[in-house]
Amino acid sequence: MVAAKEEEETMGNLKQQLIKLFDASLKLTVPDEPSVKPLVEVGKFEDYQCNNAMGLWSKVKGKGTQFTRPLAIAQAIVTNLPTCDMVESCSVAQPGYVNVVLSAKWMAKSIENMLINGIETWAPTLSVKIAVVDFSSPNIAKKMHVGHLRSTIIGDTIARMLEYSNVEVLRRNHVGDWGTQFGMLIEYLFEKFPDSATETAIENIQALYKPSKMKFDADPEFKQKAQKAVVRLQGEDPVYHKTWEKLCEISRNDYAEIYQRLQVELEEKGESYYKPYIADMIEELNSKGLVEESDGAQVMFIKDFKTPCMLVKSDGGFTYDTTDLAALWYRLNKEEAEWIIYVTDAGQQEHFDRFFKAARQVGWLPENDETCPRVSHVKFGVVKGEDGKRFRNRDREIVPLADLLDEAKTRSKDALIERAKDKEWTPEELDQTAEAIGYGAVKYADMKKNISTDYRFSYDEMLSDKGNTAVYLLYAHARICSIIQKSGKDIDELKKTGNLVLDHANERALGLHLLQFAETVEEACTKLLPHLLCEYLYDLSEHYTKFYSTCQVNCSAKETSRLLLCEATAVVMRKCFHLLGITPVYKI
Ligand code: ARG
Repeated sequence: MVAAKEEEETMGNLKQQLIKLFDASLKLTVPDEPSVKPLVEVGKFEDYQCNNAMGLWSKVKGKGTQFTRPLAIAQAIVTNLPTCDMVESCSVAQPGYVNVVLSAKWMAKSIENMLINGIETWAPTLSVKIAVVDFSSPNIAKKMHVGHLRSTIIGDTIARMLEYSNVEVLRRNHVGDWGTQFGMLIEYLFEKFPDSATETAIENIQALYKPSKMKFDADPEFKQKAQKAVVRLQGEDPVYHKTWEKLCEISRNDYAEIYQRLQVELEEKGESYYKPYIADMIEELNSKGLVEESDGAQVMFIKDFKTPCMLVKSDGGFTYDTTDLAALWYRLNKEEAEWIIYVTDAGQQEHFDRFFKAARQVGWLPENDETCPRVSHVKFGVVKGEDGKRFRNRDREIVPLADLLDEAKTRSKDALIERAKDKEWTPEELDQTAEAIGYGAVKYADMKKNISTDYRFSYDEMLSDKGNTAVYLLYAHARICSIIQKSGKDIDELKKTGNLVLDHANERALGLHLLQFAETVEEACTKLLPHLLCEYLYDLSEHYTKFYSTCQVNCSAKETSRLLLCEATAVVMRKCFHLLGITPVYKI
C-alpha cells in the first residue's frame, strides 16, 4: 500500500470513500486507462469488494501489458491502494476480485463521531441545488383518494431525502384547479341552485360532482354549456371566477386537514397558477415552428408519439398538457430548478413521456436525461383492496382519506388498549401513540415494496406487530430506548468517553450496517426508490436483534460500548423514520 495524500475523512458515505481510494490506486495501476471508474460494491464474502480487474484485463491483454492475468491486476490494485485507517486488510480472489475488510477500530470511531456531531454529518452530498417535487396534486372538487395519498406519502419522503441531502426543495401541490370539471360544476350549480342558493350548495361540493358528471355525460347540450363555461372561466369572467374561487377554497381546507394529519408540507401552485405564462410559452413554440393546427386546435407533434400535445383546444380552452408545459417553463426559468420530480400513478406514464419529449424537442431540456436540468416521473402502482380489486369501501365507493386514517388510528388504539396501555398512559399519550403507529403503518406499507408495483391495502397486515411493518419497527426503537433508560446512564456523558469497541461479530455487523446508512439514503434518493430505505431500516432492526440476543448490554463488562451502539442504532432508526415521515415512539 502507498501512503495516502489527503487526510481521510471519518464521516459520510463509506462506499464513496472506498471509491476514492480505489480511484487513486487505479490511476497508479493502469495509468494508460484514466477513464476507468472504480467498481466498488458491498462484498459477497468480505465487507466490500472492488471488481475492476476482470474488465481491465480484457482491455489491456495483448497490448504489451506487464500483467499476466486478471489476478495480477487485482494484486497490483491492492499494492497501490493508499494506506489508511479505514481499511484493515485486502485480499484477492479468483478470477480477480479485491476483497476489503474494514478496520473495526475505524468503524467504531466513525460511529462515535456521528454520535457526537449528529446524524447530519452522514448526509449525502448531491450535485443538485434546487429541486421541485410535484406531488399529492389532487383535483379540486373531487375527493382525494388513495392514489393521491400514495403520491403524498411518496412525494413527501422524496422531498425529505433531498432536504436531508442539503437540496433546496420546492414542494409543489399541482392541484387540478382548472379542468373541464369546473365548467361542469359551475354550470350545474347555476342551473340547480340559482342566486343565493349557490353559496350553500357549494359547501357540499363533493355531493355535486357525481350528479353534475352524470348530466355532463348524458346531456350533450349541458356538455356544450359546460365546455363554454371553462373557456369563460379561463378568460376570467368575474361571476364564474368568484364561484370557482369558492370551490377551490373549500377543497383546499379539506386537503389542509389531511396534510396536517400526515405532517406533510406542501405549497399550492395549481394548474391555474401558470396561466400568465401560457401565451409566451405558446409563442416560443410557435417561433420555433413547433405548433400546428389540427381541426381548429393548436397542437404540437412529438417524435415517436401518435397523439400530439394539445396546446389550445378548438374552443380556445387549455389542457393538462398546456399547463404542464407552462409549469415546466416556470420551474426551469423562474425557479431555476435543476431537477423536477413528478409523483403520480403509473397510469399517467404516457402523458409524462410525451410531455418530457416535447420539452426536449423545444430545447428546454438536454437530450441526455441524466444531465441537469432533468425531469423524472416517479410512477407508482394501483392501491388494491384485500380482495385484489381496486380499493373501495363496502358501498363500492372510493374510500375517503380521512376515513382511512381514522380507521388506522382507531385500530392501533384498540390494540394498545388491549395491551392495557390506557391504564398506564395519559389519554394524550395513548392518542399520540395510536396516531404515530396508525399513520406510520399506512405510510410504511405504501413504501416498503418497490413503489412501481401495485399494492394490497390491508389494515391487518400493516398493523401487525410482526414482520416488516412500521409497528414492529417502532416497537423495536422503543425497546432500544427503554434499554438505554434502564441502564440509568447519561448517554451524553458516555459519548464523550469514546469507548465503542466492535469486537463481537454481531457488534461489528451492526456497526457496518449503521455506517451504510449514508450510501443507502444517497441511492434511495438519487434513484427515487424509497423502498431501499425501508429495506435498510428493517435490516437494521434484524442486525440489532442479533446483536442484542448474543451480547448482554446492561450490567455487562462492555456496558458503555454496547449502550453507545444501542444509541447509534436508535439515532439512525429515528432518522429513517423521519425520512419516511413517521413519528417515532419512545415507549411501548
Ligand atoms: N392532478 C393530477 C391527478 O390527480 C396530478 C398532477 C400531477 N402533476 C403534474 N404536474 N401533472 O391525476
